[in-house]
Amino acid sequence: MRKHKIAVIPGDGIGPETIREGVKVLEAVGKKMGDITFEFSYFPWGCEYYLENGQMMPEDGLEKLEKFEAIYLGAIGDPRVPDHISLRELLLKIRFSFDQYINLRPIKLLEGVPCPLKNKGPEDIDFVVVRENSEGFYTGIGGRYKKGIPEHNELAKIKKTFADSEEIVTQVGVFSSKGVERVIRYSFELAKRRRGHLTCCTKSNALNYSMVYWDEVFRKVAKEYPDIKTDFAFVDAICMWFVKNPEFFDVIVAPNLFGDIITDLGAMIQGGMGLAPGGNISPEGISMFEPIHGSAPKYTGKNVVNPIATIWVGQMMLEELGEKKAASMIMQAVKRVLKEGKVRTKDLGGTSATSEVGDAIVETILKM
Ligand code: IPM
Ligand code: MN
Repeated sequence: MRKHKIAVIPGDGIGPETIREGVKVLEAVGKKMGDITFEFSYFPWGCEYYLENGQMMPEDGLEKLEKFEAIYLGAIGDPRVPDHISLRELLLKIRFSFDQYINLRPIKLLEGVPCPLKNKGPEDIDFVVVRENSEGFYTGIGGRYKKGIPEHNELAKIKKTFADSEEIVTQVGVFSSKGVERVIRYSFELAKRRRGHLTCCTKSNALNYSMVYWDEVFRKVAKEYPDIKTDFAFVDAICMWFVKNPEFFDVIVAPNLFGDIITDLGAMIQGGMGLAPGGNISPEGISMFEPIHGSAPKYTGKNVVNPIATIWVGQMMLEELGEKKAASMIMQAVKRVLKEGKVRTKDLGGTSATSEVGDAIVETILKM
């Protein structure tokens, strides 16, 4: 019997509802396999916790998480707490502290899911974005100079041609040799296991230090992988190709901010946010699995959102834990339920509840 110890952070908004379905599916697959069990430990951290305690997680929160093999997270964010606090002090804190330097985001259109792109089907939309997840524009390095100091130039005041402040703000993009190389290397290895094609998402035409450096490292690592077909694409052009020719892509490696932006577009072409999973991977340590979508406060507690992204996230977690067979059972069940199309939530044009989708996937697994 293999026992997996998982830390669960249901989080805010719809997080607890989708995590409940995800856990249900994991329990079912464990039961079906017969040789896997899970020990889920729940941590009630998030915005509600912040409003009561003044912090998103306790002082020793990270130490508590260290004891687990993986973290399963629902969603973080609540209108009562500024986003830059809730996200920096929980989500980003965990990503950075555990050095989860890969953000893995499969963009795959499954059969039976309506695609907003004309004449594109499941065979056209099947790629992975590997987003750098530990640096770039996310480190929080920067500052505000002359904050709130008004313009003192009399002439400017009379002419009213200047803003009423002299403020200067910087947000520094950080690109370390270690950080850039390891994500690119990971992406080449992934491309090797897939269709052997890696696209370097860049913006070296405008960002003359960071992205020129990113491309240099890509070229250097590429020399070690002569069998992988490579190309460079500017992030703006990638947005265009996602819509026009998504079949072009196999694996894309992108800096943190660009990876964030293009994967929301990716989520749309795979059928919507309710179907987009993600994993914050620390190849040498503890990874955290979370759907790409947020906490969707307006749907909280209504049992209407699509839990499939979070269930799929559970599949990615099993894959990373080395439970390939169990992972593939979840994927098969998700595919079957979507293809049948009988049980589907509102985002996919149905009327089923969140819990009914979870139940249908559980039933499918138990019948396999
Ligand atoms: C995501 C989210 C986060 C990010 C936000 C909430 C900080 O948009 O996981 O894509 O940008 O990483
Ligand atoms: Mn995002």
